[in-house]
Amino acid sequence: MAAEHPGLHDLIDPTRARSPRLLSALVSVTNEFDSDETGRGDSYRRAQEDSSVRWTGARQLLQLATRTDSPGDVTLLDVLGGDGTIARAVADRADSRLAKLSIITGDISGEMVARALAQGLPALRQSADALLLRDASIDATLLAYGTHHITPADRPQAASEAVRVVRPGGRVVLHDFDTASPMARFFAEVVHPYSAAGHDYAHFSRAELTALFAGLPVTARVLDVYDPLIVEADDYQSARARMCQYIADMYGVQEVFSADRDPATSWTFIEEIFDHSCYAAALRDAPSGIPLRPVLRESGGRWFAEVPRMAIVAVAEKRA
Ligand SMILES: C[S@@+](CC[C@H](N)C(=O)[O-])C[C@H]1O[C@@H](n2cnc3c(N)ncnc32)[C@H](O)[C@@H]1O
Repeated sequence: MAAEHPGLHDLIDPTRARSPRLLSALVSVTNEFDSDETGRGDSYRRAQEDSSVRWTGARQLLQLATRTDSPGDVTLLDVLGGDGTIARAVADRADSRLAKLSIITGDISGEMVARALAQGLPALRQSADALLLRDASIDATLLAYGTHHITPADRPQAASEAVRVVRPGGRVVLHDFDTASPMARFFAEVVHPYSAAGHDYAHFSRAELTALFAGLPVTARVLDVYDPLIVEADDYQSARARMCQYIADMYGVQEVFSADRDPATSWTFIEEIFDHSCYAAALRDAPSGIPLRPVLRESGGRWFAEVPRMAIVAVAEKRA
């Protein structure tokens, strides 16, 4: 690491690599994200080759995590970073607000970290509840796209670790789906019964998000964030088919959305399960100007399939 990623090397506290908590978290772990043999790792990474699909939401999370008044470069740890989807998405896009951002990808899956490193990304195998970085060494921590995989018992320690490693004035952004949202229903009724490894993970309530940060040296708020899936194609049918394939691969539910099923039937099911109209109507600050049901739309001669997802997000700023 000193040779290939010296910046990351300097941020690591070597004594933490010997922590019993970290070693016991890593010693025997294979998880569903390693491969399709262990769950849905290969198909998940195939879906993430197009890092633009979740960019609308990921961009908002990165903007929430970074202060506009930061004078220099901003270093962010993506704690559940997989094979670096968010780091690649940032690298692939010119975004003046995020131009100074450098991302460290963390993950507990050795296979995910190996794939991130193979793409030249600075990456660390560690557990969310036992981070290897020094105290107050980075500007922001992101826990997103899978925070529910951290067991409820480990979540307070994961939040505490996320706060520990950011500088005073730095931010922690924690993203997940509300237990009362259509997303939680999708995981319970589709992903859990039909994916190889199941999906027996508890999502978050707003109260849990608030409580996680209550005893920590931060000022925190909880927001609703529009975090859709968007794919682009030449025509209506291809956009619809690409979205069905993306959902099949990302969630390991090929049986439900496979290419040999009638695409119109799969799309009708997507329309039903990702319908956020009732959920959004009950939100205090319901978002406006966004589709609340899946849509296929044309713009500038291209076709887009857009599937709404509403997330709940805690933004915690570390007190000086
Ligand atoms: C749904 S994937 C998201 C990957 C990436 N952020 C993305 O959006 O493509 C969730 C990731 O969290 C990782 N993970 C699960 N539990 C973890 C833990 N306790 N500590 C660190 N990573 C964990 C998994 O190995 C997996 O790669």
